[in-house]
Amino acid sequence: MAEDKVYIFDTTLRDGEQSAGAAMTVEEKLEVARQLERMGVDIIEAGFPVSSPGDFEAVQAIAKEIRKPIICALAHANPLAVDRAGEALKEARHPRIHVFLSTSDIHIMHQLRKGRDEVMEMAVSNVEKAKSYVEDVEFSPMDATRTDPEYLYAMLKVCIDAGATTINIPDTVGYTTPAEFTDLLNKIQKNVPNIDKVRLSVHCHNDLGMATANSLAAIAAGVRQVEGCINGIGERAGNAALEEVIMALHTRPDYYNVKLDIDTTQIHLTSKLVSDITGFSVQPNKAIVGRNAFRHASGIHQDGVLKDRTTYEIMDPQSIGWPSSELVLGKLSGRHGLKSRLNELGYQPTDAELTRIFENFKELADKKREVTDRDLESLMANQRRTFDEVYKLDHVQVSSGNHEVPTATVKIVVPGGDIKTDAATGTGPVDAVCEAINRVVKIPNTLTEFSVRAVTEGIDAVGEVTIRIESNGQSFVGRGGDTDIIVASAKAYMSAINRLLSMGDVERPAEAVTFA
Ligand code: KIV
Ligand code: ZN
Repeated sequence: MAEDKVYIFDTTLRDGEQSAGAAMTVEEKLEVARQLERMGVDIIEAGFPVSSPGDFEAVQAIAKEIRKPIICALAHANPLAVDRAGEALKEARHPRIHVFLSTSDIHIMHQLRKGRDEVMEMAVSNVEKAKSYVEDVEFSPMDATRTDPEYLYAMLKVCIDAGATTINIPDTVGYTTPAEFTDLLNKIQKNVPNIDKVRLSVHCHNDLGMATANSLAAIAAGVRQVEGCINGIGERAGNAALEEVIMALHTRPDYYNVKLDIDTTQIHLTSKLVSDITGFSVQPNKAIVGRNAFRHASGIHQDGVLKDRTTYEIMDPQSIGWPSSELVLGKLSGRHGLKSRLNELGYQPTDAELTRIFENFKELADKKREVTDRDLESLMANQRRTFDEVYKLDHVQVSSGNHEVPTATVKIVVPGGDIKTDAATGTGPVDAVCEAINRVVKIPNTLTEFSVRAVTEGIDAVGEVTIRIESNGQSFVGRGGDTDIIVASAKAYMSAINRLLSMGDVERPAEAVTFA
């Protein structure tokens, strides 16, 4: 009989980070892992240790610090990959190694270029190797939904015999449909004789927009572990959005009748954190976490909600941690008031962080009479700097107009502490600012994305700018917020440059300054 608890397996730090341009630093991954622990996820897939020294370090750091959830490391079916996963997990309290290997003929013939028997032996020997490091081993037959079912059953049987404790069925290319997936999962449960010895899991991609529906169909078919990413990020069109799966199970107990150990009130904060760190904005109409998810625009809907919330709301916004009221702070608010509102919003800044946020808050309150919860969220996002600030923007000034050549002057604190000033013209004020910064930092890059978003309504809104740059085929994101969008753009560009210097394949200037 199937257990009634559904285990939530978060792969934001592994498959999510595989999204083009979502690279995170080790410190950022730790911050996400801490928040996932607060949210109560059961398993955190922290990375793919053999893929890079950075991934190894991140898995190691998360394994050392995060104690409640299972910490999982990915390995392809290769002895070196399994060794690296085992080493990275040494200090984990609850370690798991996740071994994967392609099983569809398309992958076996065109990518692995081996025979089916050899592939089966590789899977078995690497599951056995993983078992020599940890008790908890997951096996994934990659591209399972395009695999010959008879071969799939045989593969799963031998991997369970070899010691796998979780069998994960990935819809690697987002190909299946809910009915077809249900059928496959029923057949697996019927045709793999030892399947009752393991927990069955699914891992769905969203290429056809069906990742959440497929994951939920799997749960209805008896699967008890579901894998996905916060905000649905991940390879290509992404993975199943965990917040959607969780809230579907939470909102429809009458239909799914399963238990979860998730604190759903942490969802809003987790979504914000992942979006701030990766630079992937959440679309306004995104289910559960989009800005409009609980907004009622039409008169009839507003009338209904005012009379009784349940007329048009199937979920209470507070159940996902949406701030209950838009409390407003102002320039007379003190440090204590700021701290307690931040705590109410779910943030736990350290004293040093609070000092920095308070300074920024005072500056903002001087420009804008009312500082809302959304402004505070933006301040929190902007103060988060988990990569070295090699260069620091000190001053920016721009002149532009319909009969002028846009010209920017910047002052930048450079490694060693000196201030360098330079100026440039550009096709527009933002271009001029970036050119002026380039003249100081001299790091070749291409700007590939620029977007501005108003955090709050009104003419005095804080504008949040996201800039993505590319260098040596890698992409780096920077964000900046200010009531002046040119200043916000300068901050965003500077932060993208600093991230490139922290994580990219470029030489850093000799002395990096550390700013408090
Ligand atoms: O999509 C996929 O098949 C994967 C595996 C590594 C599970 O991410
Ligand atoms: Zn995947």
